[in-house]
Amino acid sequence: MTTLTRLSTTRRLSSTHRSAPTQHPLSGIAPPLVALLAGLAVMGACNKPTDVDSDRSVIVKAPKHKKILGGGEVDLGPPPERVAVALQALKIGLKVRLQTAMQAGGPAAALEACNHDASEIAKRAQVEGIKVGRTSHRLRNPSNAPPAWAAKYVSQAAGKRLDKVPGRMTVDLGDGKRGYLEMIGTATMCLSCHGPSNDLDPALKTRLAQLYPKDQATGFRSGDVRGWFWAEYTR
Ligand code: HEC
Repeated sequence: MTTLTRLSTTRRLSSTHRSAPTQHPLSGIAPPLVALLAGLAVMGACNKPTDVDSDRSVIVKAPKHKKILGGGEVDLGPPPERVAVALQALKIGLKVRLQTAMQAGGPAAALEACNHDASEIAKRAQVEGIKVGRTSHRLRNPSNAPPAWAAKYVSQAAGKRLDKVPGRMTVDLGDGKRGYLEMIGTATMCLSCHGPSNDLDPALKTRLAQLYPKDQATGFRSGDVRGWFWAEYTR
């Protein structure tokens, strides 16, 4: 898939949201989403069948909500569909960009693609009244720092294995606002750019140091918590 097709699909996602707020949120976008997901399933087939983490980490199977979170706070359950759809646009945009660049030119090309396009993809996924993003306890790009409300949950999960943390959580932010977090696990395919520093390709390592002089996002192992997708919205 070309960048152009991807961008126009993403644009279609957001414009559907803005122009038809009363419609069923999935009605206008189901065909492109289905097409993308079908394509992703094919691309996913390149991974080893035992590589369950790669499915879990990116799109579909984050573990369920837990009712009570660490500090005794109550998890408010799944976010509304419009929030899930905005997040899906972010996840799919990132995944397609990463995988197409990876297939076209390997990790070096994919690194440039992530560097160049990640923040734009996040911006495009925002719809009115919903902010979305990606964060981590160990950041590559400092501008992906967690929103203030999310910082404590992100640091609570720092250094943990993905099955040891609530996979999703929704918290009350006051003033009718809510915050939603969805865990991102580390899959085998992430290790070429986030794995132990000694295992990274030397050229890629050099380029990483140029692009991200404060990079903290290496040293992960498959199955580690890598970070979180987040959303902030009004109820
Ligand atoms: C080709 C290299 C590459 C691969 C492979 C890769 N990433 Fe990244 N990752 C990056 C770059 C570059 C950034 C910084 C993007 C930016 O500037 O916002 C990043 C940022 C992130 C962030 C945002 C937080 C931060 O540290 O800034 C998360 C979360 C993340 N990656 C998770 C993953 C996961 C999960 C995988 C595997 C499914 C993965 N990445 C695979 C290069 C890569």
